[in-house]
Amino acid sequence: MDNPISKFKVWWQDSQANSPLNQKNAVCVSTLDEGGFPSGRFVDLKAVSDEGFVFCSYMDSEKGKQISHNSKSAMTIWWDHVGYQVRVIGHAKEISKIEADRFWEKRTRSAQLTTSAFEQSAPLESESLLETRLQKASIKLDGQPVPKPDNWGGYVIKPVSIEFLTFRESRLHLRELYERTDGYWSKQLLQP
Ligand SMILES: Cc1cc2nc3c(=O)[nH]c(=O)nc-3n(C[C@H](O)[C@H](O)[C@H](O)COP(=O)(O)O)c2cc1C
Repeated sequence: MDNPISKFKVWWQDSQANSPLNQKNAVCVSTLDEGGFPSGRFVDLKAVSDEGFVFCSYMDSEKGKQISHNSKSAMTIWWDHVGYQVRVIGHAKEISKIEADRFWEKRTRSAQLTTSAFEQSAPLESESLLETRLQKASIKLDGQPVPKPDNWGGYVIKPVSIEFLTFRESRLHLRELYERTDGYWSKQLLQP
């Protein structure tokens, strides 16, 4: 397959079928801090298109601040049950407010309430505040729709390269590297 986005969609679908995973869409997104240290964390992959790979978060979280300083990002996936590794390198940018609103609407009320109750990545004085803050938000918004906080939205990682690795017990892994130059994808096999 010559288009890595189409290939990714097939692999994503494969990974979902009979998946033993609880968090089927968890992917590791890495960003860079101002000192140049990489910082990785798992997020939920929400969508993929020719534009790139979309996840949602708080824009003023640690990752959000890092992306605003340096858009260079990576997304790494390992789906053990199908033996697929995917490595994406690209530039992250905010999705539009309209798109973010759409993702917000798809969230469960409980996820919306939790999102509204916290400032992601800020210090927390005690564990008991987790429940207290959530309760406060639930009482405040009882019977009303939960508005999307202004600091919540999404990012799309626009890929410059995507590597697909098919794991083989023999260690003869198949590595297919796609690189984008001037809007065109080229493909190269790599030694395992
Ligand atoms: C399986 C899983 C899925 C997660 N999904 C998200 C997500 O979609 N968005 C998000 O902001 N954080 C998500 N988190 C929490 C992040 O891993 C991370 O703790 C949080 O975003 C704060 O990261 P930061 O301080 O580097 O910004 C998820 C964690 C796990 C373990």
